[in-house]
Amino acid sequence: MSVLVVGASGAVGGAVVAGLREHGVAVRATSRTPQKLVLPGEVQVFAADLNRPASFGAALDGVDRVFIYADLDEPEALSAAFVEAGVRHVVLLSSSSVTFPGASDDFNGSRFIRVERAIESSGVAHTFLRPGGFASNAARWSWGVRGDSAVPLPYPEAVQVPVHERDIADVAVVALTGDALIGKAPILTGPERLTLRQQVDTIAAVIGRPVEVIEQTEAESSTMLSQYVPDVWVRQIIKDWREAVGATPAVSHDYERITGKPPRTFRTWVEDHAELFR
Ligand SMILES: NC(=O)c1ccc[n+]([C@@H]2O[C@H](COP(=O)([O-])OP(=O)(O)OC[C@H]3O[C@@H](n4cnc5c(N)ncnc54)[C@H](OP(=O)(O)O)[C@@H]3O)[C@@H](O)[C@H]2O)c1
Repeated sequence: MSVLVVGASGAVGGAVVAGLREHGVAVRATSRTPQKLVLPGEVQVFAADLNRPASFGAALDGVDRVFIYADLDEPEALSAAFVEAGVRHVVLLSSSSVTFPGASDDFNGSRFIRVERAIESSGVAHTFLRPGGFASNAARWSWGVRGDSAVPLPYPEAVQVPVHERDIADVAVVALTGDALIGKAPILTGPERLTLRQQVDTIAAVIGRPVEVIEQTEAESSTMLSQYVPDVWVRQIIKDWREAVGATPAVSHDYERITGKPPRTFRTWVEDHAELFR
């Protein structure tokens, strides 16, 4: 059996490659810039772009299963290329946003829905991983923590259930090494609801020094985020925070059901990435 991991340079994709190798699976890996991949010699590396299905060529030769990100514009063409190449199972990193009311009218939800629908329509067996907000979104605070020991936020009381990228990868590996998750769409969250302020406090506890939350207006936050993130995402991030104040987002038990292990905590994510904040 051979598995192709598209986006092996990514946080989730890289952990999927590592997890598959631990299972003794023959892994191939792609990146749009494969020279940046640092992988053991037995992992075959290819250049491929999800937006250019023809670029997959030899990478798909003899491959049974594929892990992909949803960052693509023509999911119909890509799905057809996978079917044509004889891929029998596609595992997509989607998003829990597809399950939210009004998702098909929402910028974020609709792009994942389109990819899920294209894969379904192609007839290939599939698993849609639907994570909520990633713990790694807190990496955006690293410069403020390192610089001023402060994190500016417009909605510090926004509630999230941050999920560790390695939990998402663990479920991807289960999907890619058996048939148990074919046709399934597990929702993946962390184990606990945390406000943004509690997440900042967790970072402070792990690095062993105080980190202040500085309250911003939406306009101030928007100006700040625009330096790093495209405008459409800035609007989405602020809207998500605004709507999450006082919310009680669902805590999913799918990770534990699938892997038999408790999900990793936000604190574990901070400990795993403490160098970002020190
Ligand atoms: N942040 C959240 O809260 C959240 C929640 C739900 C879902 N998601 C989704 O999760 C994903 C982010 O996961 P992550 O943290 O692992 O990302 P990451 O570390 O930023 O890596 C993104 C990966 O996607 C690959 N990629 C992007 N566009 C590609 C293309 N056109 N062709 C081939 N590969 C492409 C990149 O590969 P190369 O650059 O090497 O080619 C890279 O390996 C996004 O799709 C996001 O929408 C995020």
